[in-house]
Amino acid sequence: MEKKPVIYSGIQPTGIITIGNYIGALSNWLKLQDDYFCVYGIADLHALTVRQVPAEFRQRAISFFAQYLACGLDPQKSILYFQSHVPAHSELSWILNCYTYVGEMQRMTQFKDKSEKNADNVNMGLLDYPVLMAADILLYQTALVPVGADQKQHLEITRDIAIRFNNVYGETFVVPEPYIPKQGAKIFSLQNPTAKMSKSDPDPNASVSIIEDPDSIMRKFKRAVTDSETVVEYREDKPGVSNLLTIFSEMTGRSIESLVAEYHDLGYAKLKNDVGESVVAKLEPVRKEYARLMGDKGYLMEVAKEGARRASSLASRTLNKVKRKVGLVEA
Ligand code: TRP
Repeated sequence: MEKKPVIYSGIQPTGIITIGNYIGALSNWLKLQDDYFCVYGIADLHALTVRQVPAEFRQRAISFFAQYLACGLDPQKSILYFQSHVPAHSELSWILNCYTYVGEMQRMTQFKDKSEKNADNVNMGLLDYPVLMAADILLYQTALVPVGADQKQHLEITRDIAIRFNNVYGETFVVPEPYIPKQGAKIFSLQNPTAKMSKSDPDPNASVSIIEDPDSIMRKFKRAVTDSETVVEYREDKPGVSNLLTIFSEMTGRSIESLVAEYHDLGYAKLKNDVGESVVAKLEPVRKEYARLMGDKGYLMEVAKEGARRASSLASRTLNKVKRKVGLVEA
């Protein structure tokens, strides 16, 4: 295995990659690329737990992959690939299923939430989702997993499965730790600023994509929900304005205090306009690079193929070890 500690993370190709994902996750992934051996997957098998329209799903997965690259994830430094291109994920997840209890999976809060939301399609994949995620992580002997609060429980169960397996068969898996970035700003919905900005919010005005066109970005910020005051202050009882300030600060690198000092009495219209412009400016290189990449699918698919090749080579080492340990006959 590589000498640098391994970092693994992934995003499901559903909805859109929002500025919240960018600020909270992707911008950290970028920074980690030099100090760690990073493996970043498009979690397309996970996305199948909810019914997808095949042509749209395929297009979206490719688009997400292009967005990874456009943000600055670098295939020379990190492994970037589609989960479904590496069969070891499915294989290890079957084996790990046999070391995971149904009761543990039924207690997962995300399973309970998603079962309520998709009451007509509570399929086995939805229940098994955390085991596939454990396979993703454990295949690469991952030391650290950058995850948000919503995925913490899945990482806990990954650790439990790894420890359980290691106890029975001897050291097989590195037991991963969560990676909590030093300052991971949380971005809220532009329409309901006490709820997290979601990549699959049905209200298009609530979230902004990292590849959105400038007019649309400006329109959404102009419509952002604030409050009935006029002063620009960062306060708990002003979630809309505070969220705008957080975004502004993340996009410009300026401190919230200096922004408050400058904008305090300038009114919400001016604030919204300037936050919108800062987002447009910051994302301009991403948008341009994305358009270029989407015009060169041949290149994109080459990168994906090479990512899958490198991922497979690492994953198969772990998978073979596991197969041997549980007593499967060597091929
Ligand atoms: N379940 C994660 C999410 O929805 C995506 C994911 C899949 C993931 N496999 C992973 C995240 C492995 C971290 C590590 O956000």
